[in-house]
Amino acid sequence: MSTPNVDLSQNGHIKIADTLFSVGGIEEFDFSRLLDKPRPLNMERQRSYDERSLHELTSGLSPRPPSRTDDFPSRITDHLEYSFSPGRRSGYNTPRSFTGFEPHPMVAEAWDALRRSLVYFRGQPVGTIAALDNSEEELNYDQVFVRDFVPSALAFLMNGEPEIVKTFLLKTLRLQSWEKKIDRFQLGEGVMPASFKVLHDPVKNNETLIADFGESAIGRVAPVDSGFWWIILLRAYTKSTGDTSLAELPECQKGMRLILSLCLSEGFDTFPTLLCADGCCMIDRRMGVYGYPIEIQALFFMALRCALLLLKQDGEGKEVVERIVKRLHALSFHMRSYFWIDLKQLNDIYRYKTEEYSHTAVNKFNVIPDSLPEWIFDFMPSRGGYFIGNVSPARMDFRWFCLGNCIAILSSLATPEQSTAIMDLIESRWEELVGEMPLKVCYPAIEGHEWRIVTGCDPKNTRWSYHNGGSWPVLLWLLTAACIKTGRPQIARRAIELAESRLLKDNWPEYYDGKLGRYIGKQARKSQTWSIAGYLVARMLLEDPSHLGMVALEEDKQTKPLLRRSNSWTF
Ligand code: GLC
Repeated sequence: MSTPNVDLSQNGHIKIADTLFSVGGIEEFDFSRLLDKPRPLNMERQRSYDERSLHELTSGLSPRPPSRTDDFPSRITDHLEYSFSPGRRSGYNTPRSFTGFEPHPMVAEAWDALRRSLVYFRGQPVGTIAALDNSEEELNYDQVFVRDFVPSALAFLMNGEPEIVKTFLLKTLRLQSWEKKIDRFQLGEGVMPASFKVLHDPVKNNETLIADFGESAIGRVAPVDSGFWWIILLRAYTKSTGDTSLAELPECQKGMRLILSLCLSEGFDTFPTLLCADGCCMIDRRMGVYGYPIEIQALFFMALRCALLLLKQDGEGKEVVERIVKRLHALSFHMRSYFWIDLKQLNDIYRYKTEEYSHTAVNKFNVIPDSLPEWIFDFMPSRGGYFIGNVSPARMDFRWFCLGNCIAILSSLATPEQSTAIMDLIESRWEELVGEMPLKVCYPAIEGHEWRIVTGCDPKNTRWSYHNGGSWPVLLWLLTAACIKTGRPQIARRAIELAESRLLKDNWPEYYDGKLGRYIGKQARKSQTWSIAGYLVARMLLEDPSHLGMVALEEDKQTKPLLRRSNSWTF
């Protein structure tokens, strides 16, 4: 496996602040030691999949709940402790916390629910259904979404059950090689599906997979994030198991190259950021998240970095690797310079001159200060900052987006100072961003005339609902990972406690509504799998921070910008 750029995390040097667990009572623990070794595979669990595959083959539709007897792995538990009532088998799977963060009965319930969401294909678990909510109109929530499966996959990896993740990665790779058409237009070869489902033919007694690349999705937008998540997950699998053979398979190498060739091709671009249509990521409806949205740029950066670690530098790989290195260099400079905002930067924009021409322009994108929204002046704390939602000619979308900012921290797109500043902002704007339920997908909501124009009068995305300032429990895992990476676990702990006060009681809603996230979302599904898995991953990360290496990358000195336009983020 080639590692042309040094990923320090590979060498066990993910830097975690010394005072990591001051709230939990343990200080100055050297977590870097924990990041060294690949996590052991749970061979017991793998065997049980094989054993039951014959039975699964003959018995049909997915998903179906596994039987109680094979529900949980009979893992060697001499160094583990039960985190729940010994009468139940679930919930003992993770080591007791280093943090003094006590186990919670909800963990066992969450594992049960997560296992109920498993989708089987020809006897093997291949993913998890988006929501097990049978009470309402199903839409496409009966499918396995690539992005939704990521937290499930991480939960299984952290629990020593990598097999399902491997199957998922291989099956989705097969789907990628399909010919993809919308009407008469053929999509790029590398496009990964948004979702897929298992079709069972009771007559022939066989199963097939059908995928949606955007041709069935509301709005008909291809998911740009799917391919990135696929690469990120492949790296998480490799990191967690130490099994490099999967990523080294010629088909995996090709799959990665195809995904990347979609975004590294030359065109008319003047920026290194990736041009996108509205609705091509987690926010998959028209919400003004088009052009160069942070949600995609951060994932793009992370996927490039992961690919760099996984790609072989042989014939075809070599050229891709060279392109990645160049792109990373330019992308990190661009993002760190132009997407970053803090009090000083805001003040600079407020005083911008416009209509500047030539290389000496300070206001490069010709942003008109009058376009600064009112809310940002109150929202911006004296300490803290964040990557804004979008930057393009004469347009800055100042909204705060959760996923983009957390992924920026995890991928080290954010400098260490910027990462700290993002956490400072979350802490000082807790009421706005977390409120009573973690975590706002974006802030603030858009309303009135602007809502009409931007969303196209979307009744699902009314203010403080769904994608428009709604609160999504799945984001808890991203927040927790970011907290651990920046040495602020107490923030994650507070958020997890809030989630624990409601999530199970409310039956794992997809999202919450309202300024504070107080109300179960108007059209939120219940038993939403990524709400369940997101909670489990958050818990496991906090209990055993060595898992962080799966989803985090240390800063790569080679991608550091040579010049810094502004040092406003250093305090
Ligand atoms: C909604 C979300 C999307 C998610 C899907 C399945 O469409 O916006 O991000 O993947 O539901 O849960």
